[in-house]
Amino acid sequence: VRAAATAALPEHDADAPAASNVQPPDDNIASFMAEHFVIATLARDAVIKGKVNELREPLRALADYRYTEVALGGWADQVAQLQQAARLTSEAKTIEQAATGVAAMARVCGSCHLRGGRGPAPVESPRETKSTRADDLAKRMYRHMWAADRMWIGLTTPSDDAWLAGASALARAPQRTPVDAPVPPPGFGRALLEVRQLGQRAGEVSSLDERANVYALLLATCANCHAFGADAEF
Ligand code: HEC
Ligand code: HEC
Repeated sequence: VRAAATAALPEHDADAPAASNVQPPDDNIASFMAEHFVIATLARDAVIKGKVNELREPLRALADYRYTEVALGGWADQVAQLQQAARLTSEAKTIEQAATGVAAMARVCGSCHLRGGRGPAPVESPRETKSTRADDLAKRMYRHMWAADRMWIGLTTPSDDAWLAGASALARAPQRTPVDAPVPPPGFGRALLEVRQLGQRAGEVSSLDERANVYALLLATCANCHAFGADAEF
């Protein structure tokens, strides 16, 4: 399943033709799901990096999948919602639009799994790595990423456990600028505070809709800081 998902990802090639010729590898819904997971995660990471252009092609491919060949058992409207969200997001003009679109996709994933009573198996949240005294930027970002990923699993599965694990890691994230930060962009400290506050808020909301809204704000906060000049090595 994983191999099929990876193989079907469009190459990242600026000269590549529109991805409309990407076809499902077979009629197995699990392999579709793995593929969606890969594409949606890629889109999420593009937003986090602040590089909206990177999500356009994969999301167009998702939007163009021909679902007619899969037995969807009454879920056609949910699939349509996902594809519509993917298409809209692929056309995002700003980081905020891209962040909102990716979060909306995650909400559709979660609500279809919830509604159908089938979806990814719940996963145990791995323990967060203990924060050490030496608090450098890389550790800080590892922690941010860990949390953002838990919350993502929390939305798409959906899983309260994963969502709350990520939220509480952010809510407890240090707020001072790390000692080794490069020339901090203006608002660096404020952005760190915002991440923390969003973590707190994330821990307080329980519906998929509210969680998706908080997640959109979080992705945009990550993205805006990264997009500021820093050519982050992800
Ligand atoms: C139309 C409803 C629907 C939508 C929309 C949907 N899923 Fe699923 N998903 C399912 C069903 C049904 C299964 C269970 C498949 C099975 O058990 O064979 C599943 C399973 C999965 C799995 C587990 C696959 C495996 O290998 O067992 C993952 C991961 C997954 N979905 C991710 C996603 C993500 C990410 C999205 C959004 C981008 C998404 N899904 C959107 C219905 C949906
Ligand atoms: C206050 C600004 C700021 C915010 C907010 C922020 N980051 Fe970062 N991030 C940085 C800087 C600066 C770097 C380092 C860039 C570089 O390496 O050139 C970085 C790098 C990273 C890296 C790469 C780390 C590595 O080991 O190279 C990841 C992953 C990351 N951030 C994730 C996140 C996530 C997820 C969020 C949101 C939850 C987030 N960041 C929010 C400033 C920020």
